Amino acid sequence: MLVLTGAGVSAESGVPTFRDANGLWESHPIEQVATPEGFDADPRLVWRFYSERRRKAKTVQPNPGHLALAEAEERMGDRFLLVTQNVDGLHRRAGSRRLVEIHGSLFETRCSECGRAPFPDDREYLGEVPPCEECRARGRGGLLRPAVVWFGEVLDPAHLQRVSAFLEGARPERLVFLAVGTSGVVYPAAGLVHQARDAGGEAWLVNAEPADNARAFHRFVQGPSGTVLPGLFDWA
Ligand code: OAD
Repeated sequence: MLVLTGAGVSAESGVPTFRDANGLWESHPIEQVATPEGFDADPRLVWRFYSERRRKAKTVQPNPGHLALAEAEERMGDRFLLVTQNVDGLHRRAGSRRLVEIHGSLFETRCSECGRAPFPDDREYLGEVPPCEECRARGRGGLLRPAVVWFGEVLDPAHLQRVSAFLEGARPERLVFLAVGTSGVVYPAAGLVHQARDAGGEAWLVNAEPADNARAFHRFVQGPSGTVLPGLFDWA
């Protein structure tokens, strides 16, 4: 089973989604806080936005939807892979380990200039934007930035490769693709359903409302994931 989750799976934990009413993109223009150009123009504003998200994400807990997916992994082992667009860390905290965070993590930081690996970091940067110490040691001016993927940036090819390898290795007659809590408008994640169908999979969608790409799915279960997922995996 290949699962793709989006912001809706964390909604019942109290994490705001992006495109619903009162969603994050209603009050924060994407181009200011989620593009490299926005960071170049005003890195302090960007860090204030992500510091606030870090602060809030530390106060929330995984919900029954996250836990149901962690249990599914426990039962299926390497026949299970979870791909999430969420950066809030809740899947990991729920126990998911076969996990690909394709949009990065709120709790990692990297350099805006040099290629140093992202490192764990839960600090909040509300004042001066922190310089990259490794750049500074070489006389360069790189700044630290959140290790999340912004619009206009490419996803880590190793992450996409892991998903492709999983699909190639799956037995088509046993392959299920399940998308949960995602509006189906942001690519390449929204295209995964087609990749899974090309590999012979049956595609299910669990969402509060029909996603943009809902027609690509064989089945649609409408409802909140925290209620639907525990019942969907009826292991009894
Ligand atoms: P969206 O905010 O676009 O969509 C959330 C979806 O979840 C909507 O279709 C809601 O109907 C649904 N939803 C809300 N509450 C739900 C619940 N309790 N149970 C089930 N479904 C629920 O969020 P994403 O699709 O995750 O990227 O957005 C994709 C990407 O766009 C994000 O990763 C982010 C954003 O811009 C970047 O920041 C790069």
